[in-house]
Amino acid sequence: MQKKFDPKTFQLGYLALGTPDIDRTKDHYLKLLGMTEVSRGDDGSVYLSIGYNHHDLVLRPTKQKALLHVGFQLRPHISVNDLAREARDLGFAADVKTDSQPGLGELVEVEAPGGLPIQFYSAMEASSTPGFKQTGASPMRLGHFAVISPEGDKLISFFRDFLGFWYTDDIGGIANFFTCNREHHVINIVKVPESRIHHIAFELRESSCHPIAADAMRAAGVNLLWGPARHTAGHNLASYHHDPDKVMIEFYTDMDTFIPELGMCEPRPWHDHLPMKPRSWGPHEVNVWGLEFGYNLAAG
Ligand SMILES: [Fe+2]
Repeated sequence: MQKKFDPKTFQLGYLALGTPDIDRTKDHYLKLLGMTEVSRGDDGSVYLSIGYNHHDLVLRPTKQKALLHVGFQLRPHISVNDLAREARDLGFAADVKTDSQPGLGELVEVEAPGGLPIQFYSAMEASSTPGFKQTGASPMRLGHFAVISPEGDKLISFFRDFLGFWYTDDIGGIANFFTCNREHHVINIVKVPESRIHHIAFELRESSCHPIAADAMRAAGVNLLWGPARHTAGHNLASYHHDPDKVMIEFYTDMDTFIPELGMCEPRPWHDHLPMKPRSWGPHEVNVWGLEFGYNLAAG
């Protein structure tokens, strides 16, 4: 059952990826996504900004590609210490850190089920950020991510029951969509017995930017894996490509707007279901236009 309280967080802030070739991977995000390097850590990490936040993406040198951690911003009435205490009360390890990374004064890192470190913070520096570039796809923001977890049910419970996220849809019970704001999904938890990132999604300015992004990818020799086309769950117009480490990146626009007070998405002419309430889509109901995936999206 959905608990009757607002989510403790209101947006996804950043992701940290481990990469075996940080220069090559960084180049992709700088040149093809128009991000800017704003800071460098003692461990070789680089902090990349889309334009406003101090960072939206962290890359750190590792032997193999990895999802290192994710960051969510807390609602103003919940402090880092509140979150730490409530997490510990439920038996989760929670470590409050001060000045552990540039741009963030204080955060608490909680080990979520499946070993996913999630960082919660109240404020991120934005005073010295670089501004938006108009290079490559130039997304506006990081919107959501999908994670494959062998502890899917426990991770779902963490987001739904502890953090208060709203369930908005699932596909075949495998891909499970949750939100903490008015976008249809902020996290997609893929229940498969593996542990890795499935994809990271950046919102483009508007739908006419999809071909601009695709042309920029093509000019750099990067093929799209699928799309642009319209999904069922979330109804976002989406395209996918691989970064140099074969981490799947989604560009999207036109995501459904979830109305938690009504438990439904704002009606749209392209909805086959009115009202568009959370539902379990069939495993092959991935696309509203009947396109076949040339790529196995479930496999990431
Ligand atoms: Fe997505």
